[in-house]
Amino acid sequence: MSVPEHRTVFDPWKLGRTELANRVVMAPMTRNRADDDGVLPGYAATYYAQRAGAGLIVTEGTQPSAAGKGYPGTPGIHDDAQERAWAGVADAVHAAGGRIFCQLMHTGRIGHQSLIPADARVVGPSAIAAAVEVETADRVMVPAPVPVELDAEGIARIVDDFASAAARAVRAGLDGVELHAANGYLLHQFLSPGTNRRTDSWGGSPQGRARFAAEVTAAVADAIGADRVGIRISPGGQFNDMADKGNDDTYVALVDAIAPLRPAYLHTLRRRSSPLHEQLRRAWPTTYVLNTGFMGASELDDVAPLVADGHADLVSVGRLFVSNPDLVTRWRHDIPRAVWDEDTFFTAGERGYTDYPAHPGQSPDQRSSS
Ligand SMILES: Cc1cc2nc3c(=O)[nH]c(=O)nc-3n(C[C@H](O)[C@H](O)[C@H](O)COP(=O)(O)O)c2cc1C
Repeated sequence: MSVPEHRTVFDPWKLGRTELANRVVMAPMTRNRADDDGVLPGYAATYYAQRAGAGLIVTEGTQPSAAGKGYPGTPGIHDDAQERAWAGVADAVHAAGGRIFCQLMHTGRIGHQSLIPADARVVGPSAIAAAVEVETADRVMVPAPVPVELDAEGIARIVDDFASAAARAVRAGLDGVELHAANGYLLHQFLSPGTNRRTDSWGGSPQGRARFAAEVTAAVADAIGADRVGIRISPGGQFNDMADKGNDDTYVALVDAIAPLRPAYLHTLRRRSSPLHEQLRRAWPTTYVLNTGFMGASELDDVAPLVADGHADLVSVGRLFVSNPDLVTRWRHDIPRAVWDEDTFFTAGERGYTDYPAHPGQSPDQRSSS
Protein backbone atom coordinates (compact mmCIF):
# COMPACT_ATOMS: atom_id res chain seq x y z
CA MET A 1 0.00 0.00 0.00
CA SER A 2 1.49 3.36 -1.01
CA VAL A 3 0.79 5.29 2.19
CA PRO A 4 3.47 7.09 4.16
CA GLU A 5 4.99 4.86 6.82
CA HIS A 6 3.94 7.15 9.69
CA ARG A 7 0.28 7.01 8.72
CA THR A 8 -0.64 3.38 8.35
CA VAL A 9 -3.01 1.51 10.58
CA PHE A 10 -0.05 -0.63 11.67
CA ASP A 11 1.83 2.24 13.30
CA PRO A 12 1.81 2.84 17.03
CA TRP A 13 -0.18 5.63 18.64
CA LYS A 14 -0.25 7.31 22.02
CA LEU A 15 -3.81 7.51 23.31
CA GLY A 16 -3.87 9.73 26.37
CA ARG A 17 -1.47 7.94 28.70
CA THR A 18 -1.87 4.60 26.89
CA GLU A 19 0.62 3.36 24.29
CA LEU A 20 -1.08 1.46 21.47
CA ALA A 21 0.84 -0.97 19.24
CA ASN A 22 -1.27 -0.07 16.19
CA ARG A 23 -4.17 2.12 15.09
CA VAL A 24 -6.81 -0.58 14.87
CA VAL A 25 -9.45 -0.57 17.60
CA MET A 26 -11.75 -3.49 18.29
CA ALA A 27 -15.16 -1.78 18.37
CA PRO A 28 -17.46 -2.35 21.36
CA MET A 29 -19.70 -5.38 20.85
CA THR A 30 -22.37 -6.68 23.19
CA ARG A 31 -22.14 -10.48 23.41
CA ASN A 32 -24.62 -11.27 26.23
CA ARG A 33 -22.46 -13.92 27.96
CA ALA A 34 -22.70 -12.51 31.52
CA ASP A 35 -24.83 -14.22 34.17
CA ASP A 36 -28.01 -12.74 35.66
CA ASP A 37 -25.89 -10.77 38.15
CA GLY A 38 -23.96 -9.12 35.35
CA VAL A 39 -20.78 -11.12 36.05
CA LEU A 40 -18.75 -12.19 33.03
CA PRO A 41 -17.75 -15.85 32.77
CA GLY A 42 -14.05 -16.76 33.11
CA TYR A 43 -13.87 -17.48 29.39
CA ALA A 44 -14.58 -13.81 28.61
CA ALA A 45 -10.94 -13.26 29.61
CA THR A 46 -9.93 -15.75 26.92
CA TYR A 47 -12.17 -14.04 24.35
CA TYR A 48 -10.67 -10.62 24.95
CA ALA A 49 -7.07 -11.89 25.28
CA GLN A 50 -7.42 -13.66 21.92
CA ARG A 51 -8.12 -10.22 20.44
CA ALA A 52 -5.24 -8.40 22.17
CA GLY A 53 -3.54 -7.83 18.81
CA ALA A 54 -5.88 -4.86 18.35
CA GLY A 55 -4.15 -1.62 19.28
CA LEU A 56 -7.05 -1.08 21.66
CA ILE A 57 -10.03 -3.21 22.63
CA VAL A 58 -13.21 -1.42 23.60
CA THR A 59 -15.36 -3.85 25.55
CA GLU A 60 -19.01 -4.65 25.13
CA GLY A 61 -21.46 -2.12 26.57
CA THR A 62 -21.39 -2.49 30.36
CA GLN A 63 -23.96 -1.09 32.77
CA PRO A 64 -22.64 1.44 35.30
CA SER A 65 -25.53 0.61 37.65
CA ALA A 66 -28.10 -2.14 38.11
CA ALA A 67 -30.74 0.33 36.90
CA GLY A 68 -28.87 0.98 33.66
CA LYS A 69 -29.19 -2.57 32.32
CA GLY A 70 -31.20 -2.99 29.14
CA TYR A 71 -30.49 -6.51 27.90
CA PRO A 72 -30.23 -9.94 29.49
CA GLY A 73 -26.62 -11.09 29.65
CA THR A 74 -24.86 -7.73 29.54
CA PRO A 75 -22.15 -7.31 32.19
CA GLY A 76 -22.07 -4.67 34.87
CA ILE A 77 -19.27 -2.84 36.61
CA HIS A 78 -20.98 -1.66 39.76
CA ASP A 79 -20.28 -4.40 42.32
CA ASP A 80 -17.32 -6.39 43.60
CA ALA A 81 -18.05 -9.68 41.81
CA GLN A 82 -18.35 -7.87 38.49
CA GLU A 83 -15.15 -5.94 39.21
CA ARG A 84 -13.26 -9.19 39.92
CA ALA A 85 -14.40 -10.65 36.61
CA TRP A 86 -13.21 -7.52 34.81
CA ALA A 87 -9.87 -7.72 36.64
CA GLY A 88 -9.44 -11.21 35.14
CA VAL A 89 -10.16 -9.76 31.69
CA ALA A 90 -7.73 -6.87 32.18
CA ASP A 91 -4.95 -9.17 33.38
CA ALA A 92 -5.41 -11.58 30.48
CA VAL A 93 -5.42 -8.80 27.87
CA HIS A 94 -2.36 -7.13 29.37
CA ALA A 95 -0.52 -10.46 29.59
CA ALA A 96 -1.16 -10.86 25.85
CA GLY A 97 0.23 -7.36 25.22
CA GLY A 98 -3.08 -5.59 24.61
CA ARG A 99 -4.87 -2.51 25.92
CA ILE A 100 -8.51 -2.35 26.92
CA PHE A 101 -11.14 0.32 27.70
CA CYS A 102 -14.53 -0.58 29.18
CA GLN A 103 -17.59 0.84 27.40
CA LEU A 104 -20.05 2.23 29.94
CA MET A 105 -23.60 1.90 28.63
CA HIS A 106 -26.76 3.04 30.41
CA THR A 107 -29.54 1.97 28.06
CA GLY A 108 -32.16 4.48 29.26
CA ARG A 109 -35.52 3.88 27.54
CA ILE A 110 -34.21 0.76 25.74
CA GLY A 111 -34.86 -1.51 28.70
CA HIS A 112 -37.42 -3.48 30.65
CA GLN A 113 -38.55 -3.54 34.26
CA SER A 114 -37.70 -7.26 34.54
CA LEU A 115 -33.99 -6.48 34.02
CA ILE A 116 -33.61 -3.86 36.76
CA PRO A 117 -34.23 -3.76 40.52
CA ALA A 118 -37.86 -3.54 41.66
CA ASP A 119 -37.33 -0.05 43.07
CA ALA A 120 -35.77 1.25 39.84
CA ARG A 121 -37.61 2.43 36.74
CA VAL A 122 -36.84 2.46 33.04
CA VAL A 123 -35.89 6.11 32.53
CA GLY A 124 -35.24 8.61 29.78
CA PRO A 125 -34.96 12.34 29.20
CA SER A 126 -38.67 12.45 28.31
CA ALA A 127 -41.58 10.03 28.60
CA ILE A 128 -41.41 8.86 24.98
CA ALA A 129 -41.26 5.15 24.20
CA ALA A 130 -39.05 3.83 21.43
CA ALA A 131 -40.96 2.12 18.62
CA VAL A 132 -38.86 -1.02 19.00
CA GLU A 133 -39.12 -4.28 20.87
CA VAL A 134 -36.98 -4.94 23.91
CA GLU A 135 -35.97 -8.22 25.50
CA THR A 136 -37.19 -9.18 28.96
CA ALA A 137 -35.18 -11.11 31.57
CA ASP A 138 -36.96 -14.22 30.27
CA ARG A 139 -35.75 -13.41 26.77
CA VAL A 140 -39.19 -12.59 25.40
CA MET A 141 -39.54 -9.66 22.98
CA VAL A 142 -42.09 -7.01 24.02
CA PRO A 143 -42.77 -3.39 23.02
CA ALA A 144 -40.41 -0.90 24.68
CA PRO A 145 -41.98 0.77 27.73
CA VAL A 146 -42.71 4.44 28.17
CA PRO A 147 -39.74 5.63 30.25
CA VAL A 148 -40.08 7.77 33.35
CA GLU A 149 -38.74 11.28 32.74
CA LEU A 150 -35.65 11.79 34.88
CA ASP A 151 -35.71 14.59 37.43
CA ALA A 152 -32.65 16.54 38.58
CA GLU A 153 -31.98 14.12 41.41
CA GLY A 154 -32.18 11.12 39.09
CA ILE A 155 -29.82 12.79 36.64
CA ALA A 156 -27.31 13.55 39.40
CA ARG A 157 -27.45 9.94 40.61
CA ILE A 158 -26.68 8.59 37.14
CA VAL A 159 -23.78 11.02 36.72
CA ASP A 160 -22.38 9.68 40.02
CA ASP A 161 -22.97 6.09 38.91
CA PHE A 162 -20.89 6.65 35.79
CA ALA A 163 -18.06 8.13 37.85
CA SER A 164 -18.13 5.24 40.37
CA ALA A 165 -18.21 2.65 37.60
CA ALA A 166 -15.25 4.32 35.88
CA ALA A 167 -13.32 4.23 39.16
CA ARG A 168 -14.08 0.51 39.46
CA ALA A 169 -12.94 -0.09 35.89
CA VAL A 170 -9.59 1.48 36.58
CA ARG A 171 -9.32 -0.36 39.91
CA ALA A 172 -9.95 -3.59 38.01
CA GLY A 173 -6.92 -2.74 35.86
CA LEU A 174 -8.72 -1.65 32.71
CA ASP A 175 -6.88 1.13 30.89
CA GLY A 176 -9.86 3.49 30.69
CA VAL A 177 -13.53 3.80 29.80
CA GLU A 178 -15.58 4.77 26.78
CA LEU A 179 -18.86 6.58 27.41
CA HIS A 180 -21.59 5.23 25.14
CA ALA A 181 -23.36 8.29 23.76
CA ALA A 182 -24.33 6.53 20.51
CA ASN A 183 -26.91 4.11 19.10
CA GLY A 184 -29.98 5.35 20.95
CA TYR A 185 -29.00 4.70 24.58
CA LEU A 186 -29.39 7.14 27.46
CA LEU A 187 -26.69 9.69 26.61
CA HIS A 188 -27.78 9.71 22.97
CA GLN A 189 -31.42 10.04 24.08
CA PHE A 190 -30.48 13.28 25.83
CA LEU A 191 -28.58 14.55 22.78
CA SER A 192 -31.42 14.04 20.35
CA PRO A 193 -34.49 16.32 20.00
CA GLY A 194 -36.77 13.37 19.09
CA THR A 195 -36.21 11.81 22.52
CA ASN A 196 -35.38 14.90 24.57
CA ARG A 197 -38.37 17.27 24.77
CA ARG A 198 -37.26 18.81 28.05
CA THR A 199 -37.79 22.48 28.68
CA ASP A 200 -35.33 22.69 31.60
CA SER A 201 -31.58 23.18 31.31
CA TRP A 202 -31.02 19.58 30.08
CA GLY A 203 -32.97 20.28 26.89
CA GLY A 204 -34.41 22.95 24.65
CA SER A 205 -31.21 23.94 22.84
CA PRO A 206 -28.07 22.27 21.49
CA GLN A 207 -26.23 23.26 24.67
CA GLY A 208 -29.07 21.98 26.83
CA ARG A 209 -29.26 18.63 25.05
CA ALA A 210 -25.47 18.27 25.28
CA ARG A 211 -25.43 19.08 29.00
CA PHE A 212 -26.03 15.59 30.41
CA ALA A 213 -23.35 13.91 28.26
CA ALA A 214 -20.97 16.77 29.13
CA GLU A 215 -21.71 16.36 32.84
CA VAL A 216 -21.07 12.63 32.67
CA THR A 217 -17.82 13.23 30.81
CA ALA A 218 -16.65 15.80 33.35
CA ALA A 219 -17.53 13.61 36.34
CA VAL A 220 -15.82 10.56 34.87
CA ALA A 221 -12.75 12.62 33.91
CA ASP A 222 -12.63 13.89 37.45
CA ALA A 223 -12.80 10.34 38.82
CA ILE A 224 -10.12 8.69 36.67
CA GLY A 225 -8.38 11.41 34.65
CA ALA A 226 -9.58 12.75 31.30
CA ASP A 227 -6.75 10.94 29.50
CA ARG A 228 -8.45 7.63 30.35
CA VAL A 229 -11.87 8.68 29.01
CA GLY A 230 -13.25 8.28 25.50
CA ILE A 231 -16.76 9.04 24.24
CA ARG A 232 -18.67 7.44 21.37
CA ILE A 233 -21.27 9.28 19.30
CA SER A 234 -23.42 8.44 16.27
CA PRO A 235 -24.67 11.75 14.83
CA GLY A 236 -27.71 11.22 12.65
CA GLY A 237 -27.93 7.58 13.72
CA GLN A 238 -31.38 5.98 13.57
CA PHE A 239 -30.74 2.74 15.47
CA ASN A 240 -33.21 2.22 18.34
CA ASP A 241 -35.79 4.55 16.77
CA MET A 242 -33.68 7.68 16.98
CA ALA A 243 -34.54 10.76 14.93
CA ASP A 244 -31.20 12.54 15.09
CA LYS A 245 -30.98 14.05 11.62
CA GLY A 246 -30.46 17.81 11.48
CA ASN A 247 -29.05 17.73 15.01
CA ASP A 248 -25.48 18.66 14.09
CA ASP A 249 -25.46 21.72 16.35
CA THR A 250 -25.87 19.51 19.40
CA TYR A 251 -22.74 17.52 18.54
CA VAL A 252 -20.82 20.73 17.98
CA ALA A 253 -22.08 21.97 21.36
CA LEU A 254 -21.02 18.71 23.01
CA VAL A 255 -17.53 18.93 21.55
CA ASP A 256 -17.32 22.61 22.59
CA ALA A 257 -18.30 21.63 26.13
CA ILE A 258 -15.92 18.70 26.60
CA ALA A 259 -12.92 19.56 24.40
CA PRO A 260 -11.37 21.78 27.11
CA LEU A 261 -11.16 18.70 29.36
CA ARG A 262 -9.05 16.96 26.70
CA PRO A 263 -10.60 13.48 26.98
CA ALA A 264 -8.51 10.66 25.49
CA TYR A 265 -10.61 10.32 22.36
CA LEU A 266 -13.79 10.96 20.40
CA HIS A 267 -15.16 7.86 18.65
CA THR A 268 -17.61 8.63 15.86
CA LEU A 269 -19.82 6.25 13.94
CA ARG A 270 -20.34 7.58 10.47
CA ARG A 271 -22.32 6.23 7.62
CA ARG A 272 -20.72 8.50 5.08
CA SER A 273 -18.52 11.53 4.99
CA SER A 274 -20.22 14.78 5.94
CA PRO A 275 -19.27 18.35 6.77
CA LEU A 276 -20.14 17.60 10.42
CA HIS A 277 -17.55 14.86 10.66
CA GLU A 278 -14.86 17.06 9.19
CA GLN A 279 -15.89 19.85 11.57
CA LEU A 280 -15.75 17.56 14.62
CA ARG A 281 -12.38 16.18 13.50
CA ARG A 282 -10.97 19.70 13.27
CA ALA A 283 -12.49 20.86 16.57
CA TRP A 284 -11.43 17.80 18.56
CA PRO A 285 -8.13 18.38 20.42
CA THR A 286 -6.96 14.79 20.96
CA THR A 287 -7.34 11.39 19.31
CA TYR A 288 -10.15 10.94 16.77
CA VAL A 289 -11.50 7.44 16.13
CA LEU A 290 -13.80 6.54 13.23
CA ASN A 291 -16.07 3.55 12.71
CA THR A 292 -17.57 3.35 9.25
CA GLY A 293 -20.37 1.32 10.76
CA PHE A 294 -22.70 -1.37 9.45
CA MET A 295 -23.50 0.20 6.07
CA GLY A 296 -19.88 0.71 5.14
CA ALA A 297 -17.43 -2.14 5.14
CA SER A 298 -14.64 -2.30 7.69
CA GLU A 299 -12.08 -4.11 5.56
CA LEU A 300 -8.50 -2.90 5.39
CA ASP A 301 -9.02 -1.20 2.03
CA ASP A 302 -11.91 0.77 3.53
CA VAL A 303 -10.28 1.90 6.75
CA ALA A 304 -6.61 2.31 5.79
CA PRO A 305 -7.28 5.48 3.72
CA LEU A 306 -9.08 7.08 6.68
CA VAL A 307 -5.82 6.97 8.63
CA ALA A 308 -3.57 7.62 5.64
CA ASP A 309 -5.54 10.72 4.62
CA GLY A 310 -5.82 12.06 8.15
CA HIS A 311 -9.58 11.66 8.55
CA ALA A 312 -8.94 9.68 11.73
CA ASP A 313 -6.07 8.76 14.02
CA LEU A 314 -7.54 5.36 14.79
CA VAL A 315 -10.17 3.21 13.09
CA SER A 316 -12.48 0.81 14.86
CA VAL A 317 -13.68 -2.48 13.48
CA GLY A 318 -16.46 -4.64 14.87
CA ARG A 319 -17.64 -7.83 13.25
CA LEU A 320 -14.35 -8.81 11.62
CA PHE A 321 -12.90 -9.07 15.13
CA VAL A 322 -15.62 -11.53 16.11
CA SER A 323 -14.43 -14.08 13.57
CA ASN A 324 -10.77 -13.04 13.29
CA PRO A 325 -9.17 -12.76 16.72
CA ASP A 326 -5.83 -12.11 14.97
CA LEU A 327 -7.31 -9.56 12.53
CA VAL A 328 -4.34 -7.18 12.61
CA THR A 329 -1.92 -10.00 11.81
CA ARG A 330 -4.18 -11.14 8.99
CA TRP A 331 -4.34 -7.64 7.57
CA ARG A 332 -0.62 -7.16 7.85
CA HIS A 333 0.17 -10.41 6.03
CA ASP A 334 -2.86 -10.42 3.75
CA ILE A 335 -4.16 -13.65 5.23
CA PRO A 336 -7.80 -14.32 4.28
CA ARG A 337 -10.41 -13.26 6.82
CA ALA A 338 -12.91 -15.68 8.33
CA VAL A 339 -16.61 -14.85 8.05
CA TRP A 340 -18.60 -14.22 11.23
CA ASP A 341 -21.69 -16.15 12.26
CA GLU A 342 -24.46 -13.74 13.25
CA ASP A 343 -26.45 -16.54 14.86
CA THR A 344 -23.97 -16.77 17.74
CA PHE A 345 -23.48 -13.03 18.37
CA PHE A 346 -25.78 -13.08 21.39
CA THR A 347 -26.05 -16.75 22.40
CA ALA A 348 -24.74 -18.23 25.64
CA GLY A 349 -21.48 -20.13 25.95
CA GLU A 350 -18.19 -20.33 24.13
CA ARG A 351 -19.49 -21.32 20.69
CA GLY A 352 -19.11 -18.40 18.30
CA TYR A 353 -17.16 -16.58 21.00
CA THR A 354 -13.80 -18.14 21.90
CA ASP A 355 -13.73 -20.82 19.21
CA TYR A 356 -12.72 -18.75 16.18
CA PRO A 357 -9.09 -19.79 15.67
CA ALA A 358 -6.16 -17.55 14.93
CA HIS A 359 -4.74 -18.35 11.53
CA PRO A 360 -2.50 -21.45 11.70
CA GLY A 361 1.15 -20.60 11.89
CA GLN A 362 0.65 -17.36 13.76
CA SER A 363 2.24 -16.96 17.14
CA PRO A 364 -0.24 -16.97 20.03
CA ASP A 365 1.36 -13.67 21.05
CA GLN A 366 -0.47 -11.75 18.38
CA ARG A 367 0.89 -8.41 19.42
CA SER A 368 4.54 -9.33 18.87
CA SER A 369 3.77 -11.27 15.71
CA SER A 370 1.70 -8.50 14.11
C1 LIG B 1 -22.91 -8.08 17.84
C2 LIG B 1 -22.75 -6.59 17.92
C3 LIG B 1 -22.85 -5.96 19.14
C4 LIG B 1 -22.65 -4.56 19.23
N1 LIG B 1 -22.67 -3.98 20.46
C5 LIG B 1 -22.31 -2.67 20.59
C6 LIG B 1 -22.15 -2.10 21.88
O1 LIG B 1 -22.30 -2.75 22.92
N2 LIG B 1 -21.78 -0.79 21.92
C7 LIG B 1 -21.58 -0.05 20.79
O2 LIG B 1 -21.24 1.14 20.89
N3 LIG B 1 -21.72 -0.58 19.56
C8 LIG B 1 -22.05 -1.87 19.44
N4 LIG B 1 -22.11 -2.44 18.19
C9 LIG B 1 -21.73 -1.65 17.00
C10 LIG B 1 -20.25 -1.89 16.65
O3 LIG B 1 -19.39 -1.29 17.62
C11 LIG B 1 -19.88 -1.29 15.27
O4 LIG B 1 -20.16 0.06 15.28
C12 LIG B 1 -20.66 -1.98 14.15
O5 LIG B 1 -20.55 -3.40 14.24
C13 LIG B 1 -20.17 -1.53 12.76
O6 LIG B 1 -18.82 -1.87 12.58
P1 LIG B 1 -18.41 -3.14 11.68
O7 LIG B 1 -19.04 -2.91 10.33
O8 LIG B 1 -16.89 -3.09 11.63
O9 LIG B 1 -18.92 -4.37 12.34
C14 LIG B 1 -22.36 -3.81 18.07
C15 LIG B 1 -22.30 -4.46 16.84
C16 LIG B 1 -22.47 -5.83 16.76
C17 LIG B 1 -22.33 -6.50 15.41
